[in-house]
Amino acid sequence: MIDVKQKRLFLGNDHGAIVIRPAVIQAAKLLGFEILDFGTDSVESVDYPCYAKKVCDALKDNAGIGILMCGTGIGVSIAANRYRHIRAALCHEEQEAQLARQHNNANVLCLGGRILTPEMAAKLTNLFLTSTFEGGRHQKRIDLIDTIDNLDDLTC
Ligand code: RB5
Repeated sequence: MIDVKQKRLFLGNDHGAIVIRPAVIQAAKLLGFEILDFGTDSVESVDYPCYAKKVCDALKDNAGIGILMCGTGIGVSIAANRYRHIRAALCHEEQEAQLARQHNNANVLCLGGRILTPEMAAKLTNLFLTSTFEGGRHQKRIDLIDTIDNLDDLTC
């Protein structure tokens, strides 16, 4: 269950994102988010699926929203989207971060530490955490995703 009003942010990252991590944390704190931090701030090489798992597991048991980061953002987004309760959006520019919430009701933002500047990472964090799901026709489409185990099962 996503409830951004709770202002609880679950954060996870590997070594590939330590350059943007402080900017993301600062942007979320400025918005008044409580941060539950599962990420690393070390350059020591670690495995991004383990960090995605920590955040996704936490989001199963708690209301809130997540941000996952790795070098490209791709690895954590692939891992996070294996979970049925997760809608993870890999974003590179402002409109994506906004629409991920407004249209897709994404509950995890994925960012690439080797792709984005800290300034852009902060901007995307801000937009993602302040945008609201629009519901309506978008809810119907999300419901369609939730009814399927396999895209082969979707008859449209
Ligand atoms: C780690 O070197 C790197 O592969 C990881 O951070 C991420 O980019 C994977 O998608």
